Amino acid sequence: MTQQTVEPIEAATQEKGQILLAALRREERKIASPTDAFYDAVMALTTADDKLKVELFRFVDALPALKSDESVARHLEEYLLQPGVTLPPGFDRLLKAAGAVPLSRKAVALSAKIGAEGMAKRFIAGRNAKEATGAVERLRKQNMTFTLDLLGEAVTSETEALAYQKKYLDLLTELPATAAHWATNPQTDATPTGALPKVNVSVKLSSLYARFDPMAATATADAVKERLRPILRLAREKGAFVNFDMEQHDYANVSGRVFREIFTESEFADWADVGIVAQAYLQDAEADLHDLAQWVRAERSGVPVTVRLVKGAYWDYETITSAQRGHPVPVWQTKRETDACFERCTEYLIANADVLRPAIATHNARSAAKAQALAAAYGLAPRTIEFQVLFGMGETIGRALAAQGERVRVYVPFGELLPGMAYLVRRLLENTSNDSFVRKGGESVSADILLASPVAPAPLSPHAEGADKPSWGGNEPETDFAEPANQRLMQNALASVKATLGATIIPIVINGVCEQSGEIVERLDPSDNSRVASRTFYATREQAERAVFAADRAFASWRDTPVVERANLLRRVASEFQRRRFEICAHMVYEVGKPWREADGDVAEAIDFCRFYASEMERLSAPRRRNIPGEWNEYFYDARGVAVIIAPWNFPLAILTGMAVAALVAGNPIVLKPAEQSCRVGYFLQEALEAAGVPLGVSNFIPGDGEIVGSAMVNDPRTAL
Ligand code: FAD
Ligand code: 2OP
Repeated sequence: MTQQTVEPIEAATQEKGQILLAALRREERKIASPTDAFYDAVMALTTADDKLKVELFRFVDALPALKSDESVARHLEEYLLQPGVTLPPGFDRLLKAAGAVPLSRKAVALSAKIGAEGMAKRFIAGRNAKEATGAVERLRKQNMTFTLDLLGEAVTSETEALAYQKKYLDLLTELPATAAHWATNPQTDATPTGALPKVNVSVKLSSLYARFDPMAATATADAVKERLRPILRLAREKGAFVNFDMEQHDYANVSGRVFREIFTESEFADWADVGIVAQAYLQDAEADLHDLAQWVRAERSGVPVTVRLVKGAYWDYETITSAQRGHPVPVWQTKRETDACFERCTEYLIANADVLRPAIATHNARSAAKAQALAAAYGLAPRTIEFQVLFGMGETIGRALAAQGERVRVYVPFGELLPGMAYLVRRLLENTSNDSFVRKGGESVSADILLASPVAPAPLSPHAEGADKPSWGGNEPETDFAEPANQRLMQNALASVKATLGATIIPIVINGVCEQSGEIVERLDPSDNSRVASRTFYATREQAERAVFAADRAFASWRDTPVVERANLLRRVASEFQRRRFEICAHMVYEVGKPWREADGDVAEAIDFCRFYASEMERLSAPRRRNIPGEWNEYFYDARGVAVIIAPWNFPLAILTGMAVAALVAGNPIVLKPAEQSCRVGYFLQEALEAAGVPLGVSNFIPGDGEIVGSAMVNDPRTAL
């Protein structure tokens, strides 16, 4: 047997972890109080039943917006009295009985409000700056310091965004005056290399601009920087520290860009009292840190920034929305992977502490102990690294670390409950997650398990639950325009399409022959009338009739073509749309004024129609037989004849395609008559069908005036549908 040796940093981590865990548990015993009974009961209930947890948190989320007791009671009933939600014995009867008696409804509503406010108070330090200041002064007495966060994110109006900016300006005007009276504490107010600002604030960038949209990265970054500059200027003047929080992954690129752009502006490039968050649950976390260190060295002449390393607060959101959208999940799917990444990032920060000042934000004793062990191994002076915890979650580990002489900062949110609701729900989710250290710690799981290294190979945990896939394979994902690479593809397509707009005149196609004669009609770009978006030959009544004739002639052989061949034609059309996706989108932007996302959604839907109808037709094509001796009984679907497809412009590819391919796959030849406003986009379908090998006459293309060609074809006796 080979002798197992424990690597020295791991040994030191275990040793420090044991000490920390013991101290943490002593702190826990000190603060356990009867006022927590309600919160503890809710936590116990929700951790026992997932469905109840979801419904209860939905209720808590809606609560601040409910105006009357009646409405509170009704929502409570609607959320909790539904199939699948298991309420504790007696509680459902109580709720039902209360339903009938107005006075009891008032009491139910009041208890719910008191309960929720009690939970909020646990994580939110006060409604205003005054209450929050009281909380931070209490923390300072316990040898810890703070960062203040004004609750709010993802604002929906510019009035709200400006009000938020103003509140930060007020905070930065008033708090430094109060802070001037605080005695300096060498444990929290200095690092080995110098003094630290006593006032420290955290900002969520999405609270500063109502149209924060990663797709419009430049416009968003510019608007956010505009709002930030007065805040940063004032903070610098008052000697305060500003940290940018990190939100969901969609926002990460643009937030990182704002950080890098604004802190290389000459006014702020030599300012070190700034920080950003790195989220270790992101698969790109380490690579991002490398880029950040390189940026500090190259663009800020080495003037350091602080990095608050967290695991990440939006794990459920990232996992669920990615599955919904069919996009790759940006976060690790096992907690061990996140924990291991957190430790690698910790080491990277410690190794590069000259440019990236490490702030290790965790409530996990293992993660914190690893940081202590690494700091010692790298020979960092005491208190070079900072530890950070959240108000109401990490006081125990915070105090335990502070008692060891570490530098500890508590993240202290304050503000109204309505803008703070998302924050509160994240804390509730975190506290009730099966994987959470805080929860496992509370359940007295053994030290060996709590301190185990995340590096050991883990059994594969079940990945994000996918939705059941339908037989046709599920929806085509929409393009993720938060990805800069996709933004570039779209911008390039817009540029190259713009250069050729109107250059080719969209033809008429009858029996596989392009007819390029007759009246040419121009379509102007509805967003910019000085630009011709497309030019089209308009068909005559005679051409429309010939198209119906051609389709009718192609009917018999198309009807008798095996279903699998017709279905595969549709699948090739879908691939063709995929191949030309950005080009089609660009034309849609110019021809009908669609925004990018809507244009892309239209192409995605057209793709879905092709695949869906292909599979459905294959399913429907098998004849159903009910034979008995002496009888032959068969039930099957047959094609009807020429289908004339007259589509509107508002979903210029999807609706046209949906109608066309359903008819085609069922064995009906078609005549396409795109909307007058969207002939170019409509022609992509004809082109895709031809590229996919549609037989002559099976798809004909008749752009033109609806009154003329539309009515001619609709009234033609050969038209079956
Ligand atoms: P642990 O219990 O060890 O870890 C829990 C975390 O592990 C989860 O939050 C999640 O990130 C991850 N996780 C859980 N399950 C899985 C799984 N199945 N697969 C992969 N990973 C999983 N978060 C932000 O996003 N942005 C911020 O700006 C931010 N600021 C913070 C500031 C401070 C001071 C602190 C302390 C935290 C901040 N957080 C922020 C929140 C932080 O992300 C969570 O509190 C933290 O993830 C909890 O981690 P832990 O180490 O305390 O606990
Ligand atoms: C959050 O808002 C703490 O920034 C973190 O969840």
